[in-house]
Amino acid sequence: MDGYAFLFYSSLITIAVSGLLIVLGILFVKFGYKDYHKRSMLTAFILALIFVVLYLVKSSLYSPQKYSGNYRGIYLFILWSHTLLATVNFPMAIVTIYLAFKERFDRHKRIAPYTAAVWIYVALTGWLIRAFLV
Ligand code: HEM
Repeated sequence: MDGYAFLFYSSLITIAVSGLLIVLGILFVKFGYKDYHKRSMLTAFILALIFVVLYLVKSSLYSPQKYSGNYRGIYLFILWSHTLLATVNFPMAIVTIYLAFKERFDRHKRIAPYTAAVWIYVALTGWLIRAFLV
């Protein structure tokens, strides 16, 4: 496997597992497993950070792929909404985690569904963007 393939597949895996752990973390808290919820969400956060590092390394070493198919409008909408929400997701995640550690669970519960929804959207569209480029 060459360097590009390694960065490509490892970034796809990290973003997918991160998104799945968010879904799992929601299920854990709904069924009362608060400790598993915490572990799941923190692992999702670490994986998202690893994804960003892999993405930045890939972008600095290789030129970006261009989409030249028939669905350019849809592709650009997905790409821009993904990029924008991925950027917004970072401070949202920090605040959500901070409130949990401070045990301000009333506020944690208020913001957390938005953080989770944005996170899942970013993970799904991350995959969609790759699907457009194959
Ligand atoms: C970005 C990461 C996180 C997300 C997206 C998230 C998401 C959520 C969601 C959706 C709920 C359920 C809200 C509801 O039922 O209305 C929740 C509740 C909860 N979360 Fe998190 N969470 C995160 C991180 C954490 C961490 C790190 C901890 C522990 C240190 C934690 C502890 C809790 C607890 C204890 C509850 C239940 C509160 C209660 O029922 O009173 N969460 N979280």
